[in-house]
Amino acid sequence: MRPGPVAPGDVLAEAADLHVRLGAREVLSGVDVEARAGEVLALVGPNGAGKSTLLGALAADLPAAGGVVRVHGRPVSDWSAPELALRRAVLPQSASLSFPFPVEDVVRMGRAPWAGRREEEEDDAAVASAMAATEVTGFAARPFSALSGGERARVALARVLAQRARLLLLDEPTAALDLRHQELVLRVCRERAREGDAVVVVLHDLGLAAAYAHRVVILCAGRAVADGAPAEVFTDRLLSDVYKQPVEVFPHPRTGAVMVAPVRGS
Ligand SMILES: Nc1ncnc2c1ncn2[C@@H]1O[C@H](COP(=O)(O)OP(=O)(O)OP(=O)(O)O)[C@@H](O)[C@H]1O
Ligand SMILES: [Mg+2]
Repeated sequence: MRPGPVAPGDVLAEAADLHVRLGAREVLSGVDVEARAGEVLALVGPNGAGKSTLLGALAADLPAAGGVVRVHGRPVSDWSAPELALRRAVLPQSASLSFPFPVEDVVRMGRAPWAGRREEEEDDAAVASAMAATEVTGFAARPFSALSGGERARVALARVLAQRARLLLLDEPTAALDLRHQELVLRVCRERAREGDAVVVVLHDLGLAAAYAHRVVILCAGRAVADGAPAEVFTDRLLSDVYKQPVEVFPHPRTGAVMVAPVRGS
């Protein structure tokens, strides 16, 4: 069954009272989160807070020990793997892929779920536009394994974009990127949301989250401690508390946009 139409505001992924156990540990303890079509949702929080675990559960890659995860309105267990692949695309954290293939072939792997379907006609256009969006067209023919870390990260993202799923789950897509490409990737996220996709993106850079996310969920020790617009949830007190590091939130002197910085000794 091919994916049906998606309207702005549709909940494309949802966790309700989600509990996830890894080994003997409860890593998520009653998390509620919704990813809506048309929205960039940033997941932030300290190392070990459970961001990747939440993303993995929304992707149906990790089972829930309690509560429920729905994708496109249905519990994840109701979808087959091929059906899910048409509906959600996942960029794992630090994808340590080492393909001995040319970059373009790696990006083209993102089209595999559409093989044998009408959408196969879009393969070339999807690959080309994903490569252009991530600025990797220039090394299309080079072996993936011969790229720098940041270049590889952009190719991995291009592969996910080429899949053209309406739900994008991106774990730290900017971690290895320079300043220009961090901005580029977040603009791509906004663009995909503007086109009606739901984008969930894990970020450590709170300034990027403030600038580009419609909504932010702050995770801390396996719980969602805030959920709202960046300007609402980013406060000195909450961030200082969550990160155990004094943080100040202030308006940009020229634009008024939310800025976040650690408080440092003078
Ligand atoms: N296989 C596992 N068995 C037991 N605990 C695990 C396992 N994998 C992860 N954890 C623990 O689960 C918690 C959440 O991990 P997760 O990877 O979701 O954190 P994160 O918020 O993505 O952190 P980071 O910012 O470092 O990527 C961590 O405390 C981690 O040590
Ligand atoms: Mg992580």
